[in-house]
Amino acid sequence: MKRTHHCNELRAQHVGQKASLAGWVHARRDLGGIVFIELRDREGNTQVVFDPQHNKSSWELAQSLRSEYVVAVEGVVRQRPEGTVNPKLPTGEVELLVHQLAILNASETPPFQMDELANEDLRLQYRYLDLRRPAMAKNLILRHKVAKVTRDYFDANRFLEVETPILFKSTPEGAREYLVPARVNPGKFFALPQSPQQFKQMLMVSGVDRYFQIAKCFRDEDLRADRQPEFTQIDLEMSFIDREDMYAMIEGLLVAVWQAARGEKIPTPFPRMPYIEAMERYGVDKPDTRFGIELVDLTKDFATSSFKVFRSAVDTGGVVKAINAKGLACATQGQIEQLTETAKSFGAKGLAYIKVEAGEWKSPIVKFFSDSEKAALTSKLKIEEGDLILFAADKREVAWDVLGRMRLVVAEQLKIERTGWNFLWVVDFPLISFDKDRNQYYSTHHPFTAPVAEDIPLLATDPTKVRGQHYDVVLNGVELGGGSIRIHQPDVQKKIFEEVLRIPADVAENRFGYMLQAFRYGAPPHGGIALGLDRLCAILCGSANIRDVIAFPKTAKAVDLMTNSPAEVEPKQLRDLHIKLDLEA
Ligand code: AMO
Ligand code: AMP
Repeated sequence: MKRTHHCNELRAQHVGQKASLAGWVHARRDLGGIVFIELRDREGNTQVVFDPQHNKSSWELAQSLRSEYVVAVEGVVRQRPEGTVNPKLPTGEVELLVHQLAILNASETPPFQMDELANEDLRLQYRYLDLRRPAMAKNLILRHKVAKVTRDYFDANRFLEVETPILFKSTPEGAREYLVPARVNPGKFFALPQSPQQFKQMLMVSGVDRYFQIAKCFRDEDLRADRQPEFTQIDLEMSFIDREDMYAMIEGLLVAVWQAARGEKIPTPFPRMPYIEAMERYGVDKPDTRFGIELVDLTKDFATSSFKVFRSAVDTGGVVKAINAKGLACATQGQIEQLTETAKSFGAKGLAYIKVEAGEWKSPIVKFFSDSEKAALTSKLKIEEGDLILFAADKREVAWDVLGRMRLVVAEQLKIERTGWNFLWVVDFPLISFDKDRNQYYSTHHPFTAPVAEDIPLLATDPTKVRGQHYDVVLNGVELGGGSIRIHQPDVQKKIFEEVLRIPADVAENRFGYMLQAFRYGAPPHGGIALGLDRLCAILCGSANIRDVIAFPKTAKAVDLMTNSPAEVEPKQLRDLHIKLDLEA
């Protein structure tokens, strides 16, 4: 019995033809002495009928079928009788009347049914079964398509796919790394790459000109719904380009991906927004621009306020900002307390508010406000009946973060409809940030990003004012990817390491010496970007969690529940590696 079709292929046009299918028993029903099974494979389902009148022996054998048995069937395609057509199923007009059945394998009763969404730990423990679920099979197919379109697109644009090492050197910036002991070099370690960043820049020095890779990356960081310890980037680098070339290249890729994966045409060019504007309006550098509730700055208006909380924030160099949650004035006292607790969990000291109900401003703090302060609020926040105004008075970064996150919380509560694809380039990030705790400058992204040319003189005087030639591509509030035009002059790179980041010359030499050296042999101007393939696929599938588009992901505790890893190893393995465990410490 050779398979002739997949389980989503038979249609009315096949009626009367012979066909063979193979797959898993999705469901079985006995009706009036006739056995029906829904046969499932990766592609879909087909109804299969065993009728004793038609073929007694296969009907008898069909009695023993249970969920998830693996079978092959051969029969004749026939129209389903009137009233039994299933318009929801692509194969719903037909069924296969079986004259031969082979049971290829039995199955124990599975821990969950393939049409049920079980708890995620159980799904991850039995991931091989979870991937049989039609929703997951669809995700795997979509991911394959995205990777295929990506390869075709870059091939057509004369990129070379080059593999870069997984055993790399520890470079202690950025996220924490996974270390790999090097047995034949006792006491030494490889690190798994956080990204192919340095190799792809070297490839530009090598004259590869245009590189891409669908690259595995490893970061030992605290996990969230959109972060995994091992994840995949669509990584690329190009020589002799500027930012505009990169925007066009990535927009072209995303157009091709949306066309292939969803049959949708997305508009280009994507809008662009400077980092500072994103922060001032949305409180984040990856704004969801599908709805308003923008942050409004009130610092100047409350500079001399008699409301102490606002006044002292301004006096100590902070800001007063607010959002207008239109339509949320109906929030009860309990709900407002809950919003306050949420804001506190985001780092706020409190959450001053005004409810506008029955023509009145209901709030414990309006009694402190002057008429001009009230007028400023009314005009800047466009206050109307039904509004709930939420305030943050704090350091600028804290107010941004708190209100940026509260904006999403209230959008959720207001059930604001968020549809469409709002792509956005966020640009003009600060090249250098300052860490007050460590009293030290650090690269906002990584130390290889080129400064905007006209800002270079500021490197010596006020590094945090220097804009980097960095760009992030953002979609509906998700950072899909980021990259930059790089520094290609060894003297500029050395200056950034030594004079701005204050990495001592010998340390820079030890960590990045090969790169500085390579750049002395004719490095072309170049730039690149990396998109998170997992995040991209999750958005395309409408999933909030990247685990749904990764075949074998880790849990939020960075554990693989199917293979039970990480796991202990034999003492001999540790001895060979010259490693002693000190778990107490
Ligand atoms: P960056 O660190 O911004 O840039 O990463 C690029 C993109 O990779 C995705 N990403 C992740 N996805 C899942 N889990 C994670 N833990 C995770 N971390 C990052 C995000 C992110 O936007 N070498 C630079 C790129 C460059 O400059 O060319 C880099 O890695 O979607
Ligand atoms: P208090 O004077 O501390 O009782 O605060 C008065 C109101 O202001 C309360 O609703 C607090 O939640 C709120 N509040 C306190 N600190 C801040 C702050 N830094 N930003 C915004 N609201 C605050």
